[in-house]
Amino acid sequence: MIASPAPASRYLIVSNRLPVTVSQKEGKIELKASAGGLATALSHVHGTEGSRWIGWPGETGQMDKSARAELDRRLNADGMIPVHLTTKQVERFYEGFCNGVLWPLFHYLLDKVRLDAWVDWQAYREANELFADAVARHYQPGDRIWVHDYHLMLLPALLRKRLPHASISFFLHIPFPASGVFRILPWRREILEGLLGCDLIGFHTHSYQRQFLSSLLRLLGLETQVDSVTYDGRMVRVGAFPISIDTEHFIKESSTPRVEEAAAKMREQNTECKILFGVDRLDYTKGMRRRVLAIERLLERSPGLAGKFRLIQVASPSRTKVEAYAQLRRSLDELVGRVNGRFSTVNWSPVQYLYQTMSLEDLMPLYRAADVMVVTPTRDGMNLVAKEFVACRNDNDGVLVLSEFTGAAWELGEAVLVNPYDIDGIARALQQAITMPEEERHFRMTRLRQRIQRWTVHDWVKSFDAAFAQVTSENERLRQS
Ligand code: G6P
Repeated sequence: MIASPAPASRYLIVSNRLPVTVSQKEGKIELKASAGGLATALSHVHGTEGSRWIGWPGETGQMDKSARAELDRRLNADGMIPVHLTTKQVERFYEGFCNGVLWPLFHYLLDKVRLDAWVDWQAYREANELFADAVARHYQPGDRIWVHDYHLMLLPALLRKRLPHASISFFLHIPFPASGVFRILPWRREILEGLLGCDLIGFHTHSYQRQFLSSLLRLLGLETQVDSVTYDGRMVRVGAFPISIDTEHFIKESSTPRVEEAAAKMREQNTECKILFGVDRLDYTKGMRRRVLAIERLLERSPGLAGKFRLIQVASPSRTKVEAYAQLRRSLDELVGRVNGRFSTVNWSPVQYLYQTMSLEDLMPLYRAADVMVVTPTRDGMNLVAKEFVACRNDNDGVLVLSEFTGAAWELGEAVLVNPYDIDGIARALQQAITMPEEERHFRMTRLRQRIQRWTVHDWVKSFDAAFAQVTSENERLRQS
């Protein structure tokens, strides 16, 4: 799958979260697939050519020594190397800095950013050092190191110090904000310098790439090119590599008799009622509150639509110990209750809200049965749910309502694009989607499907890999000249 420059070359993938997360039930260790696009997409790199994945397996602070040793053995057997974090580190590094500072800032939610987080910043630095030690311990000459996401932005420079000639790359799975927003961060220089330890830095879109380069110019005074910058005698390439899904896998899995039957049954039960569907981690960036407010607005504008549609919204628990997430959960519970209380009849409710993690197996029939898929984050690096929905629609039907502020909107132009801040606009888009003529639905979906077949997760890996190999050999030449 990966076009390696040398046969011995393997990938060391480094991300905060491993593709599996551990839990302990009645003394037994359970491993579950981790949520989010990063884990899903990278499983296509991991497992090839002896690659290793270094990351946090989830909370192990309370585990005794023997349970932890058993866990490590199981992970090692699958090519995973755990970095264990103490309960305090989880609190300050993961919850405090990553998800209390960087996540809201990079998603433009400035009122949620905690800027007096000096203690958490220290924890962020320490955790990055811990990861650097783990990578250096497992590194073999010729390995290619691929670091992922906002949790580990200091890691490339820390690795460059320990392994000056290593090939190091980084991919950001969330948006990179405009430089005017990024510069709010008191630790902005350290973060930029951390990333500049790389040979290659990748983003989902050209817009994030430009915003990063503009931060380098404005905050570090670096003279940047469109896709590179020279730093510390090395070439640092910067590029856009939109992540995608394993399209073929979704096409295949969504047309099994089990999925077809379950979807047909769901449709039979809803012949008079269109199904609007949303599935997200319970995160304030996903725009779920405004989505529910848009349902309320739609019913105010068009009372005749009562009973003619319902929104099935799945929200999977996420970062539950971070206060902003706990708050969102309470306010969403209340909002759904209010809107349902206002419009429900004995036989119908406008919003069916499920607070649970749903397996792909259970999601597929919903993707197939939905008349309208509602994806309205206020910001999202890419959003793979939109692509999964399209891949599952072998019937060339179904309408995608998609936020303009997602990376996916740059590719999926035939969706009904909405401004996720504009509640009235979302309500109008939902109405357009509910009433869209069959011919237009087919036209749009056919084109969307062509797009996601042309660019899959395998293309993402290949294009990143090719750029990485090229810059690595350029830097090798520079070193030797
Ligand atoms: C987003 C991030 C990932 C993260 C995932 C789940 O997709 O880009 O890095 O793993 O959310 O969040 P969590 O905090 O549970 O790892």
